[in-house]
Amino acid sequence: MSTGGLGRGVGVIGAGYVGLTLSVFLASKGVKTICVERDGDKVRKIMDGVSPIHEQGLPELLQHVVRDGVLEARDEIGDMLERVDIVFITVGTPTGTDGVPDLSQVEEASRQIGEAMPTRRGATPLIVVKSTVPPGTTWHVVRPLIEEASGRTCGEEFHLCVNPEFLREGSALQDTMNPDRIVIGAKHGEAAERLKKFYEALYHPSKIPTLVTTPTNAELIKLATNAFLALKISFINLISQVCEATEDGDVGVVAEGLGLDPRIGPLFLRAGLGFGGSCLPKDLRSLRWFAARLGVDTLLFEAIIGINRAQRLRIVEKAESMLGGLSGKRVAVLGLAFKPGTDDVRESASIDIIRELLARGAEVRVHDPAALENARRVLGEGVTYCSELYECLDSADLAIIATEWPEYTDPDPSTIKSLMRKPLIIDGRRVLNTRRLLEAGIRIHTVGLYSPLA
Ligand code: UDX
Repeated sequence: MSTGGLGRGVGVIGAGYVGLTLSVFLASKGVKTICVERDGDKVRKIMDGVSPIHEQGLPELLQHVVRDGVLEARDEIGDMLERVDIVFITVGTPTGTDGVPDLSQVEEASRQIGEAMPTRRGATPLIVVKSTVPPGTTWHVVRPLIEEASGRTCGEEFHLCVNPEFLREGSALQDTMNPDRIVIGAKHGEAAERLKKFYEALYHPSKIPTLVTTPTNAELIKLATNAFLALKISFINLISQVCEATEDGDVGVVAEGLGLDPRIGPLFLRAGLGFGGSCLPKDLRSLRWFAARLGVDTLLFEAIIGINRAQRLRIVEKAESMLGGLSGKRVAVLGLAFKPGTDDVRESASIDIIRELLARGAEVRVHDPAALENARRVLGEGVTYCSELYECLDSADLAIIATEWPEYTDPDPSTIKSLMRKPLIIDGRRVLNTRRLLEAGIRIHTVGLYSPLA
């Protein structure tokens, strides 16, 4: 395969969702890719052709590119800088609940890159920060660390860009193959031009809107995007609370009507249990922290976070009032992943709901098609893990749908009635086909829908 315009090869530091997907995609395009990951288990898995993450389409492609020798994983940077033109930094940037970022992995990667830069002058490596970082990090943290460790000057002897990633878990490969935009932040035009050309060759012949700007703007675009998506979700969840308090409101219809306004658009208006995952909550907190440090009023960010938290708690309160108390009641929680199509339980609504149910004395049984093992690591042995949906519903007083997996949309009414102690369901994600269930006498509370149940 021709890799015209794509250079000698690419290095990727960090084999998380972003780094691994990017590595596999680049390798599938024939670009020799070296992925550096400090977790030796992950490296071994990748080199055995096994994907360490649950992502649609990734395992097959990964196996293929490793077998063909186009993708190589290793746990040390070694001679990587001698063999590639571009290095992407895709390590994690966790934040505390207060939004204070932990940049230690980005700092370590920057130092390693600096130390590994070839002593041979002439080669001008391009370093690209893809990790989500607070505005100013690339220029004021990454740049000086690389300069210090390498003895080279940014803009002359190496180039530096910010290039945020907007992929979604569950469709990471698809999103990497078809990005809706490319944002490049750089202080030097030549650096931005190099990355732009690389992407043009990679995505040729498709034309993807590309925005070239300053590093700060690029870093801010990423945080603001996720905060805005979170805003849309909290907004519609607030409207769902209003709908529930009316006599015949339905947030689904309200969202549909809202979405018809082209200035608003239909996406990210699905009411439910709010947003979770590794990005939206974290990036929102990070932006709140950053804005507060600059003396900017963070009232709106607080509200988005508060509504998201309340939406989870309201479900537990609804369950409590439907059952007349939770102590000793058996509750089946369907869905643990923060959204369908992934085994990721990070900041999942379901986990918070389960903890609150347990705190109020309920006996909790859980089911998820993909995330049981990850949930066990977080929740421990205090709940019963069921690999079968109907096993989870056995003798339950109430079932809560917490993740919109397709397997939960159309349960068999007679099986539910015979299995559950009380045929009560809370549809936290608005996915149930309710007609057959209601006809069979099963009682359902749907988020965002007026219900006389509680
Ligand atoms: C998000 C961004 O979409 C992506 O651009 C960024 O790169 C990473 O963060 P992801 O975390 O994979 O991606 O999930 P996403 O599909 O955005 O959903 C986030 C959360 O919001 C999920 O918990 C989902 O259930 C919830 N959500 C989403 C809603 O509750 N309602 C909606 O309308 C949309």
